[in-house]
Amino acid sequence: MIGFTYQNDELFCEDLAVNEIVEKVGSPAYIYSKKAFLDRYNMLQQAFSAIVDTTVCYSVKCCSNINILRELAQAGCGFDIVSGGELFRVIKAGGDPSKVAFAGVAKTDVEIKYALEQGIMLFNVESEQELENINRLAGEMGKVAPVALRINPDVDAKTHAKTTTGKKENKFGIEFAYAMQVVSRLSSFKNVVLKGIDVHIGSPVNSTEPYAEAVDRVLNFIKTCPDTIEYVDTGGGFGLLYNEENVPAFEEYAKVIAGPVKAAGKKLIIEPGRSIAGNAGILVGEVQYVKKTGVKTFYKIDAGMNDLIRPAMYDAYHFIWPVKSEEMPDCKLFPEVEGDGLLMPADVVGPICESSDVFCKGRLLPELERGDKIAIFSAGAYGFAMSSSYNSHPRSCEVLVDGSEYKVIRKRETWEDLVAAEEL
Ligand code: LLP
Repeated sequence: MIGFTYQNDELFCEDLAVNEIVEKVGSPAYIYSKKAFLDRYNMLQQAFSAIVDTTVCYSVKCCSNINILRELAQAGCGFDIVSGGELFRVIKAGGDPSKVAFAGVAKTDVEIKYALEQGIMLFNVESEQELENINRLAGEMGKVAPVALRINPDVDAKTHAKTTTGKKENKFGIEFAYAMQVVSRLSSFKNVVLKGIDVHIGSPVNSTEPYAEAVDRVLNFIKTCPDTIEYVDTGGGFGLLYNEENVPAFEEYAKVIAGPVKAAGKKLIIEPGRSIAGNAGILVGEVQYVKKTGVKTFYKIDAGMNDLIRPAMYDAYHFIWPVKSEEMPDCKLFPEVEGDGLLMPADVVGPICESSDVFCKGRLLPELERGDKIAIFSAGAYGFAMSSSYNSHPRSCEVLVDGSEYKVIRKRETWEDLVAAEEL
């Protein structure tokens, strides 16, 4: 895993011992590796650009701290946004609006006007009524809005029901037959220009076939569209190694996506989030109490479902291991060490008053004690970004490591912060 290694019984993020960082910044803490973000971005960019002209638009929703956006912007990355707030972040981070694709499901007038003012690359449009509205607002502002129609290709991405987006029963996109009608009425929309066709089938998609199918359908549809179309946007969703799954290499995704797009003479936009950020971040928590019942051992930690909701929401698997341990992990994430030692089954649980606040059940782990710190891996994507202060737990801090230096890129919230926006 880029950026995280076990050395001498201890977890390191780049050149720093994770335990030492947490001793200084406190627990729970999100810790990110700058190198991991940039390496994964560059790997993706290279895999796709080797085949076709590609704009990588990092999906801001998955990990949106402006420090991270700034690093990616400086590396040349574009951005996929889903709200005015995300565009605000991108601009604050120095991102280039001309590399921004706006994929919001129910964009408000305020958001559309802001995006038009900033001059974004593309509005990914989800309905004819939205197209009418963008056309109206662009007209009022004396602008022509670049748009892509988001197609619902009715392709099964074979992922979790809650993260499938490309089936006809999902709220996303426009079905082909209807999209054809919209295209035939385009000449009545004077203030938009159809620049692209967009599709996003789900996340994570751990095989290439659903992409091949969706791209094939979209490229067939494009044959019936005006030749103003420059881009095919195939969304995000590339898989991530959380545990033992087989995830296609970026080159394999590129082959089935970029190859046909190149053959059709179009440029490509991709919107990866998880595959860049996921393994660039961990969540560290501290064991508060060990409770052994007749049937189970519980490690109760200070991080909870409010910090990382994925296990509670999607039954997601996250690899968990102590930050300091004589036993080494046996996981594909750490091929450099050989798993060993005495392990015991235990549940790692958080402090929230919900039965779903459980990170793992009956997981084989080294024996832990009160005060030990544990890392929850692959938490960089949809970790902090989906966190909340539920149960009035202040949200954790975020730390970015660069070589042998670290920076707190978001302060831990305080109890005062919890009530700051409330009026007495
Ligand atoms: N583009 C669009 C239009 C999207 O809806 C998404 C994700 C992406 C790109 C980025 O997908 P990625 O490359 O990150 O897989 N919270 C869930 C995932 C929700 C994904 C939402 N849309 C999770 O924690 O698994």
